[in-house]
Amino acid sequence: MIVFKEVETLTKYISKIDKTHTIGFVPTMGALHKGHLSLIKRANDENDFTVVSIFVNPTQFDKAEDLNKYPRTLNTDLDLLEKVDCNIVFVPSVQEVYPVNATSEIFNFAGLDKYMEGLFREGHFDGVGTVVKRLLEIVKPDNAYFGEKDYQQLLIIKKMVETEKLPVNIIGCDIYREPDGLAMSSRNIRLSKEQRKEAPQIFKTLNEAKEMFKNSSISEVKAYVEQVFQKNKLLELEYFEIADASSLKPVTTKKPGEKYRGFIAVFAGKIRLIDNIALN
Ligand code: PAJ
Repeated sequence: MIVFKEVETLTKYISKIDKTHTIGFVPTMGALHKGHLSLIKRANDENDFTVVSIFVNPTQFDKAEDLNKYPRTLNTDLDLLEKVDCNIVFVPSVQEVYPVNATSEIFNFAGLDKYMEGLFREGHFDGVGTVVKRLLEIVKPDNAYFGEKDYQQLLIIKKMVETEKLPVNIIGCDIYREPDGLAMSSRNIRLSKEQRKEAPQIFKTLNEAKEMFKNSSISEVKAYVEQVFQKNKLLELEYFEIADASSLKPVTTKKPGEKYRGFIAVFAGKIRLIDNIALN
């Protein structure tokens, strides 16, 4: 495994890889867990080389406090990457990624950024689009892997790649979960014992919503989810939306033949957890 800190040395190395070989890329912000590793394993299976980037991207944080508090565990991350046979790691400084200034490009995501995470985290998706575009231009992978854990992010990146005409396949990967159903996240380690015990309620409720979705109206399903969290003293619901699976527009009525997804954000104290599920 080779670790690069500079764009120049990384691109020089990548340019020497035989063009018949494929490159799979997994961008991350580090604090790696089994969810990240599942993406890396998939990239390994489907490509000749796997590149992982670790970069806590300042332009996607709307609060300086969140950026400063973001967990940084580089040595453990590198040990994990070695164990899963990652070939190349890119760990750039802010200066390397943003040589001029760390500001976001403004994208047109065709409305995908107008709902859910976009409403609650201002400028977040422009920051994500900016850094992913830059990283894709540096690494020039054949395939890039993103988790459905951040479903809205996945669709936004697909849209950005399409409008910017970047030559890469964007591949969505299943949500990797703890045995009790809680979606893996670098935030899970911050949960108290009591909060951790309650957190599987999120996925349990998404599954109940999916079951209910077969025979109930959207407002009935939403009311059910809301009352589950009203009763829970440790988990506070920020939003639960049922949205069209491709436009992400929240809906109030079901149309035959359309695909829908449920999206949820919940606070356990100060820790914000998100999850989502295909409803049909
Ligand atoms: P980060 O939160 O580190 O996540 C990196 C990738 O891992 C994302 O594609 C995310 O969806 C995926 N991931 C996280 N938890 C997962 C889980 N439980 N199962 C499956 N995949 C999971 O997302 C980002 O970083 C950043 O926004 C980034 C794309 C790197 C741009 O800065």
